[in-house]
Amino acid sequence: MIRSNSGSGPFCGGMFWRGVVLVFGLAAATGCGREEETEPVLRFMTDSVGRQLEITREMAAEFEEEHGVRVEFRIGPESATERLSQYLRSFSARSSDLDVYQIDVIWPGILAQHLEDLSGAVEAEDFFTPMIENNVVDGRLVAVPFYADAGLLYYRTDLLEKYGFDGPPGTWDELTEMALAIQQGEREEGNSSFWGYVFQGAAYEGLTCNALEWQAAEGGGAIVSSAGEVEVNTDGARRAFARAAAWLGQISPRGVTTYQEEEARTVFQSGNAAFMRNWPYAYQLGEAEDSPIRGLFSVARLPDGEAKSVSTLGGWGLAVSSYSRHPELAREFVAFLSTRAAQRERAVRGGYFATRPDVYGDTELEEVLPWYDEMQEVFENAVARPSSVTGRRYNEVSGIYYQAVHRIISGQAEPEAELSDAQQRIERIVR
Ligand code: GLC
Repeated sequence: MIRSNSGSGPFCGGMFWRGVVLVFGLAAATGCGREEETEPVLRFMTDSVGRQLEITREMAAEFEEEHGVRVEFRIGPESATERLSQYLRSFSARSSDLDVYQIDVIWPGILAQHLEDLSGAVEAEDFFTPMIENNVVDGRLVAVPFYADAGLLYYRTDLLEKYGFDGPPGTWDELTEMALAIQQGEREEGNSSFWGYVFQGAAYEGLTCNALEWQAAEGGGAIVSSAGEVEVNTDGARRAFARAAAWLGQISPRGVTTYQEEEARTVFQSGNAAFMRNWPYAYQLGEAEDSPIRGLFSVARLPDGEAKSVSTLGGWGLAVSSYSRHPELAREFVAFLSTRAAQRERAVRGGYFATRPDVYGDTELEEVLPWYDEMQEVFENAVARPSSVTGRRYNEVSGIYYQAVHRIISGQAEPEAELSDAQQRIERIVR
């Protein structure tokens, strides 16, 4: 419970954290505090995917000591789609239960009205400009970029060698062929649970990320262009989704239509898939001491379509709730997690990509994550989801899109009819 500022007396409300001790001194005198209320509590809504929780918790201990506060961690749903619903419920109730929120790169427009302006909490120039710009809504910095994500291809180096392939697939068609050959071979050797390719195929935000990569690689557009043109029923998208639909039962398990990041990782990390599409966090976990694939896999950029290789840009920011009772302390906590040292530690220990240029070009880091610097190029060529251009309606747009793709890949609908319908529905929203 945050009780320190909850009284109604003149010294009980919204005080700057450095004033906390003073407030409690006065609180005792004015009767608006209680004895057990001597330690403010900050609640941080984050996630537990990868090593995120473990690392941030350890770092927070330092903050707690320095600032005389307690930081409590709250874990939201793993699915970005469900997590947004939860945040919206909490914000619409103007709940002060949570102070700091970890927010997805696609949410600044949707959540801005509930978030504090963090300009001044950090130096914007310390971060990659596009990442800062992504979080500026009506001139307010509503989140500080926490880490950057981009879709990557994970592949089994031992199996590529075993089946005579000299490198990861250059194109999606090559991936299909290679996955099929490896899968056949492994099954003949008795592993009936082995699959060629796993990805995020459940009907949620993660499928929007995968599908956008497939269609943009074919030159099929980006759902909605930055000029506001809807690009859903395009040649490239139809071609890309028909190919993905054919993967099911062929190189991907039919159950992939229920997979989010962690389901895909579980299959790959247990040694039962040749290829996986996932975000960077899966690397450190695959390299953990008890991982069956430790030392047996690598990462590459995603394969090319007819046009190019495209990764969807993902990532998260740190935001402070407008309903927090400790906004200043919350800002300090965000700043504390955003320093070069903090981002570097998260990169080394958790494989989380920094949002600050000064964490790149670091030889020690390159030893742990050999592809760290190369990722900068992937980020530069990554495609953003149309969250800026659709603003508060992004979630509806993405929902229509991933539902349509889900019906296509699970064989319930044909690309042409389904995408024509989705295109029209999204056009009605965007207009
Ligand atoms: C990752 C990305 C995020 C994306 C989500 C989809 O967490 O960082 O941007 O929306 O995956 O599942």
